[in-house]
Amino acid sequence: MLTVMVELIPFSTALRERSRSAHSGSEHAGFMADLMRGNGTRDDYVALVAQHWYIYAALEAAASTFATDPIAAPFITAKLTRLPALEADLEYLIGADWRTRITPVPTTERYVTRIDEIADAGWAGGFVAHHYTRYLGDLSGGQFIGKLMSRQFELGTNGIGFYVFDEIADPAAFKDVYREQLDAAPWDAAEAERVIDEVLLAYQFNTDLFVDLAAAKAASAA
Ligand code: HEM
Repeated sequence: MLTVMVELIPFSTALRERSRSAHSGSEHAGFMADLMRGNGTRDDYVALVAQHWYIYAALEAAASTFATDPIAAPFITAKLTRLPALEADLEYLIGADWRTRITPVPTTERYVTRIDEIADAGWAGGFVAHHYTRYLGDLSGGQFIGKLMSRQFELGTNGIGFYVFDEIADPAAFKDVYREQLDAAPWDAAEAERVIDEVLLAYQFNTDLFVDLAAAKAASAA
């Protein structure tokens, strides 16, 4: 009986429930929590934008790899593409030479390596796991984070383009369709489990990223 009931839970619901505490870990990581509470600096915000650049470069390169994959393709749309916005943000925040002024922290290197490995292996489920963790987050809490950063650092509409999805008028409706697509993915129980594990790993990278950024900040203040 229990097995039957478990199978009735849509995959997207199981995924959200199974990742709830990992989400909480990322959301409340000290570096992010400080930024949200107004205890972070503009430099802290810029450091985060820089790490996002490496992560989305990897994610969006992987999206090109999977563009014609039957499982991954329904999730891939230019409406989500963040790299050009990140580059415009970095140019505004750091200057035209931003590329020579940023470096990845160790967690970002590991995060990027993992996304590259998944692309090289052609594992569509793993790609969807990373795609979901970043973009659904950006369309959820990210919408609030962007407004808060703009207000805190008096950026107006500059330097926060990453959080602005010009082509997605209704993020809630977009997320509903995305969840329907997750539920329609042709994964058996074992693959569904592997995808959930990969989402948990993606959350861990995001939490560890905040730990690294806090350590880098402490080191530069010393
Ligand atoms: C201060 C930081 C954060 C805040 C305030 C926040 C807030 C939220 C909120 C309110 C939702 C629910 C939206 C809804 O029900 O439609 C949400 C969903 C989500 N967040 Fe976050 N979040 C934060 C950080 C993160 C991070 C670091 C990640 C991972 C990169 C992330 C990934 C997600 C995902 C994937 C969802 C969608 C869950 C689902 O409905 O399946 N969030 N977030």
